[in-house]
Amino acid sequence: MTTTQILLFAFAGIGALATISIISIAWRRGDGTATGSVDRKAMRGDPAVARRWIAAPAPALAGEGRPVVVAAPIDPLEARQELDEESYGMTRRRFFNRGILGVFGLFLAQFGVASLAFMWPRLKSGGFGSEVNAGKIEDLKIAALTEDGRVQPVVIAAAQAYVVPVQGSLEGSSFDGLPVVAAGFMALWHRCVHLGCRVPECDTSLGFECPCHGSKYNFHGEYEDGPAPRNMDRFLVSISEDNELIIDTGTVIETARASVKTVEYPEGPTCI
Ligand code: FES
Repeated sequence: MTTTQILLFAFAGIGALATISIISIAWRRGDGTATGSVDRKAMRGDPAVARRWIAAPAPALAGEGRPVVVAAPIDPLEARQELDEESYGMTRRRFFNRGILGVFGLFLAQFGVASLAFMWPRLKSGGFGSEVNAGKIEDLKIAALTEDGRVQPVVIAAAQAYVVPVQGSLEGSSFDGLPVVAAGFMALWHRCVHLGCRVPECDTSLGFECPCHGSKYNFHGEYEDGPAPRNMDRFLVSISEDNELIIDTGTVIETARASVKTVEYPEGPTCI
């Protein structure tokens, strides 16, 4: 599934959630009849209520000064009718609370989907982490030769790799018997095995020399010097039916520091 498809699904899901939320809120609001109880402070501040209290009859004197008991005025706070949750309906406060929760939920959903899309492995053929077509073997052979007849690595950016033509025999080397050679080519990962810097090629020494801490590797990526703990890593390679070099960047092959070197290093002045 591509990132675009994931984002489309995510936005469709968010839209559905938003629609369900709006319908739910509208449903809960019922027919729009405003009901509810009046709080004590509002009641005391209401002039009409105050007038009713003032107009209430005071205890009257009957006949010869004997007090006559009259009915006490009705306290509207006592007489108010309590409403249950259902008939209370949707208050403004509740509406805003739900609105804030809804917006926060949408934000979390979008953040989650964006994070998922970011971390989703790129399994599409052709990207790093999958098989990368490095081109026709004939073209690689031409590209791997300089005008003066020397060999040079071919940079395959999509694979983060140097494709190097194997010089001589690998028998007895760190790579003997490993599936790292196809049609006479190896694919070295350009990442330094010390701390991960990109290792540039050095035209003069004909090796790879890391500018970060000085690790050096020969043309086959065999360890020569510096703090690197092993040879340069390489990828599994194969040949397609159309005679193209296929680099499987999902399969990294590590080898220990070479005790037997298969090429000379340096061939000239080093770069660092
Ligand atoms: S990262 Fe290359 S030598 Fe340290």
